[in-house]
Amino acid sequence: MRLKTRLTERLGIEHPILLAPMGVIAGGRLAAAVSNAGGLGIIGGGYGDADWLEQQFAAAGNTRVGCGFITWSMARDPKLLEQVLAKQPAALMLSFGEVEPHATKIKSQGVPLICQVQGMKYLREAVDAGADIIVAEGNEAGGHSGHRGTITLVPEAADYLAKHSPGTILVAAGGIGDGRGLAAALMLGAEGVLAGTRFIATKESEAPEGFRRAIIDADGDATMKSNSVDVVRKRYWPNSEFVVRVLKNSFVNKWHGREREIEQAIDVEFERFWGAFKAGDADNSGVLMGEVSGIIRDAPPAAQIVESMVAEACRLLGESSRQVVR
Ligand SMILES: Cc1cc2nc3c(=O)[nH]c(=O)nc-3n(C[C@H](O)[C@H](O)[C@H](O)COP(=O)(O)O)c2cc1C
Repeated sequence: MRLKTRLTERLGIEHPILLAPMGVIAGGRLAAAVSNAGGLGIIGGGYGDADWLEQQFAAAGNTRVGCGFITWSMARDPKLLEQVLAKQPAALMLSFGEVEPHATKIKSQGVPLICQVQGMKYLREAVDAGADIIVAEGNEAGGHSGHRGTITLVPEAADYLAKHSPGTILVAAGGIGDGRGLAAALMLGAEGVLAGTRFIATKESEAPEGFRRAIIDADGDATMKSNSVDVVRKRYWPNSEFVVRVLKNSFVNKWHGREREIEQAIDVEFERFWGAFKAGDADNSGVLMGEVSGIIRDAPPAAQIVESMVAEACRLLGESSRQVVR
């Protein structure tokens, strides 16, 4: 069974499932595994590290993968964009920042431009900048997000695109981890999904074992939004609307709301945080993960996730659905 949508056609993929470009976690191995399973893997360029990007594209080998950046960070070193465009990625995804200055460069090279948006203002800007694909991200998502929830943002975005930019393709993100989420996203008017947290708990992700386990063990109440994790990492986001969702662990319980005190002890806390991160200590570092962790109970190969999401969604949507093609 297949789910054929304009997203699968536009990107030349089999299944309407995209791997979120999770900085550091979504490396070449995981991106290739998702692409080889029929979705599209997107390497997590994150804040931008030229050497890491080289290694990850090499790890993906000849498999077609895309790449995503945190836009405001990449904009401080635009050579990163050129470095990635030279690899002819299957798509370039931008999130969290001004699209316009980069859109022309990306599109002039024939690379599909995916923009992740967190509200209608950002959606309108992305459409005006010429995005081919819009990812509407709700705040159930792991990592950074805005204020809107997936279930209202996606249909509102679908209505806007139908009226103002019918050629632009919509994808849903935030809280999608199985076939129920995929089917629901299609019913809300999206033509595919982008999943992050679900793919952290896979065999191929770059996440330390302790982080995988934290996701498997957590229920959906176990996360919260907290600036403490950005402050300790010296990641100073220019737009305070975007706050990171993380596991409520000992680090967050200690420091949430006390960000000024972290800054006063930044040298010590910075070292302590990254030491714990490198050791895979999910309790004393920051684990970016979403509410969907409540339905994640295993860490199989990524291909198994793609296959089971599609099979379950097809079953749920029913044979009469126009989206199901045998
Ligand atoms: C560990 C982690 C790292 C992330 N890093 C990025 C990033 O660097 N750039 C980005 O655009 N989105 C990033 N995101 C957000 C994802 O693109 C996506 O919106 C989110 O994972 C979707 O929600 P879900 O986690 O419920 O699937 C990250 C998410 C997680 C969980």
